[in-house]
Amino acid sequence: MTELTATVVDALRQAFTAAGYTVEGVAERLGPQANSALARNETTLAGRRTGSGDALDTMIRLFLLQRAVPESLVTQAFPGIDLVALGIVDSTGEALLDIRPYAEDGREWWVVADLTPGLDGRREAMRSDYVLGIAPASLSLIHLTVPIKAERALDIGTGCGIQSLHLADRVNQVVATDVNPRALQLARWTAALNRVDLDVRSGSLFEPVRGERFDLIVSNPPYVISPGDGRLTYRETGFAGDSVVEQLVRQAPYHLTEGGWCQLLANWTCVRGEDWRDRIAGWTGDRSAWAVQREQLDPAEYVELWLRDAGLHGSPEYTARYDAWLRWLDDQDVEAIGMGWITLHNVAGSLDAEEWPYEIERPIGPHVLRRFERSEGLPDDLTGQHLVVADDVIQETSGQPGAEDPASIVLRRQRGMRRAEQADTVLAGFVGACDGDLSVGQILAALADLLEQPLENVLREYLPQVRRLVVEGFLDY
Ligand SMILES: C[S@@+](CC[C@H](N)C(=O)[O-])C[C@H]1O[C@@H](n2cnc3c(N)ncnc32)[C@H](O)[C@@H]1O
Repeated sequence: MTELTATVVDALRQAFTAAGYTVEGVAERLGPQANSALARNETTLAGRRTGSGDALDTMIRLFLLQRAVPESLVTQAFPGIDLVALGIVDSTGEALLDIRPYAEDGREWWVVADLTPGLDGRREAMRSDYVLGIAPASLSLIHLTVPIKAERALDIGTGCGIQSLHLADRVNQVVATDVNPRALQLARWTAALNRVDLDVRSGSLFEPVRGERFDLIVSNPPYVISPGDGRLTYRETGFAGDSVVEQLVRQAPYHLTEGGWCQLLANWTCVRGEDWRDRIAGWTGDRSAWAVQREQLDPAEYVELWLRDAGLHGSPEYTARYDAWLRWLDDQDVEAIGMGWITLHNVAGSLDAEEWPYEIERPIGPHVLRRFERSEGLPDDLTGQHLVVADDVIQETSGQPGAEDPASIVLRRQRGMRRAEQADTVLAGFVGACDGDLSVGQILAALADLLEQPLENVLREYLPQVRRLVVEGFLDY
């Protein structure tokens, strides 16, 4: 594969723009039903809607439906560009790469990756250097990334370059790394097509940036915990167990500026007799960090998930691979695998780790930033603070019909992590009184009077709960 020259980039951009090859343009051409079917990897309906032979149909058929297009139509759609010589289309008129429009946050890009496998249920073996396109996990990391403006950012395991596109919008210099030469090439193409200045480097984890520091490091690393046979570079590396994530977390502080951020998607092993929180706390050390386990799978569920992802379900080797993988996990005392995210803020602190499998707001990045600011910045003594209940908090009460008091009160946030906190009538009364007028100390003193309890008891019981409500954004200060 060659580099894209400025002339070719201009011509490709011109062709895509002229055809209306944008997310909206494709959606309009296909209509909602065919577009949704295509998102489920079904091309039949989209095939019906794209027979006109115009440039947009050609692009959709080539790249999104993976259908052969006659040479004359390809030439019409891409005037002056030799897609065969560039290695984008083969001599039979079939695409060799996936180039698709992608939009987020009011921005439009084109992303270059390998062809989506498994369209229309086809079972295809993936090449070991397969370069993943925009996957659900890619979007999760994009939505997790804290929205800071900064000088330098690092995208480890860049793949098709999707994270770097987003980073380039808010930092001056982006370095993208990968061990897969094909990924490095496609990331360069993605960057070039979008006129993003990307410093693409080859090497494992932090090797290519030895001695350098960044304000923001993001990685959707190859975290699949597997015995390493049939390796796919986009998801497995040959690192033992979850050590690829461990290495990233442990080394991040040496590559972050003071106050810099490292955000990872991760899988971690839950080993018999060990709390997964302690395992991650061992990696984050004395840094301020937050780990969220979004899902936990038992070993069998985990093996099934990733064998299916590799297109091996139903293949002759399936049961043997399943059995070997399970045995391998069992030999290492793995009783479950946690899947989630880790954010490390390079300031002194400790790890906060939790399970949160519920729906959250997307993007969650702004809320992640705000939560760190609150948990790190709140004064030790909250009594002088004037708090205000956040706009998105609702109170849910339940109990027997006709009962004087509710049996249960839940305060629920509708934004961010969409937390729900159980509250007794005192705490609910406290939150209700938080309109910024009285201080925390004054409200709690009034409640102590009302309850006829010593103020120190009320402070001891409720101040930690108030702190938690502030950190979780129920109360603003
Ligand atoms: C799951 S893909 C993520 C791609 C892209 N960043 C995204 O968010 O969709 C993981 C990437 O890490 C790369 N990779 C594998 N082993 C690596 C290593 N040791 N160091 C750096 N990158 C690696 C793979 O080639 C692949 O491109």
